[in-house]
Amino acid sequence: MPQILKNVNLKPYNTFGLEVHAKELAVCSSLEQLLECIHDLNSNPQKHMVIGGGSNLLFSSDYNGRLIHPLIEGIEILDQNTEEVWIEVGAGFEWDDLVQYCVENNWYGIENLSYIPGKVGASPVQNIGAYGVEVQDCIESVKGIHLETGKPFSYTKEECQFAYRQSIFKSALKNKVVIVSVVYKLSKKEVFNLSYGPVKEEINRIGKPTLQLVRNTITAIRKSKLPEPEVLGNAGSFFKNPVVEQVVFESIASRYDKVPSYLLDNNKVKIPAAWLIEKAGWKGKSLGQAAVHDNQALVIINKGKAQAQEIIELSKHIIMDVEEKFAITLEPEVNII
Ligand code: EPU
Repeated sequence: MPQILKNVNLKPYNTFGLEVHAKELAVCSSLEQLLECIHDLNSNPQKHMVIGGGSNLLFSSDYNGRLIHPLIEGIEILDQNTEEVWIEVGAGFEWDDLVQYCVENNWYGIENLSYIPGKVGASPVQNIGAYGVEVQDCIESVKGIHLETGKPFSYTKEECQFAYRQSIFKSALKNKVVIVSVVYKLSKKEVFNLSYGPVKEEINRIGKPTLQLVRNTITAIRKSKLPEPEVLGNAGSFFKNPVVEQVVFESIASRYDKVPSYLLDNNKVKIPAAWLIEKAGWKGKSLGQAAVHDNQALVIINKGKAQAQEIIELSKHIIMDVEEKFAITLEPEVNII
């Protein structure tokens, strides 16, 4: 059986550092333990949810049920040829350790996703992305268990329905599965993605790109903008970057100088939420113990003793003000429980 902890303080399990409690936390260190945990839940039904590194979660109150915490690790090379390698990685493996491992092996593909907190199992859920790369670019399949039936699944990349910060695990299968492992396909041939201006500039300044140099550069950029959760609780970007019709963008561009934007394939325009929040006057502002980060307006931080409600209140004020000023409704990227 998994280790089932009762009345657990979730502070170490959520990067916002909130002092909330869960009735039960089931730590599953092997597939057998996970299956036992699911079987037990089906015999004795109660509210439940899967929790990984807790880096994209906001508990709005205590959790009156069982949190399933899969800690299955391990990396296996499934196949390789001169150009590519396929690896299967346990859901409980620390994401950034995987990036480091791939960099050390000279495997290209996920180096731009350096220093993102969380576990491997969470990487496909919100299709983590940064600096021009999304994890879907390197995912071959995702394996796991259906919670209701205990049956295993293996979904191809297409079946995962990836989109910007979106997948089937966040939509149709939300709270219905537990991810056990992810199969990634990485390249042995040199392929860098230097589409993100500041990364390219920094690398050109130093010299020729190498995997380790890209990793170090991206880690340094993240460290300069994003607060360390151990110091200031946060869950990275609190909102998604909104995608709007061209007319909406043009109406904003007619009122402001140099509105940052990216034109998408479908002719819609993505505007950085951080810019909208900053222009709405929220950058660096606090509401009680919750605040908008000084260096990146997209991040809401816990100044130390924030209650979940303060963070939620602050996010609602931001949504309201951005809506009033720009007629754009920001959507949280963080999963509010
Ligand atoms: N900007 C502002 N004010 C700020 C910060 C940014 O106006 O305080 C504007 C600037 O014009 C800047 C633009 O917003 O050029 C974009 O900022 P940045 O490059 O920092 O990226 P982002 O769009 O705010 C997204 C991801 C991040 C990811 C970075 C880098 C989302 C929701 N967030 O942020 O992901 O690290 O790009 O690629 O898409 C996360 O998901 O938790 C996360 C940190």
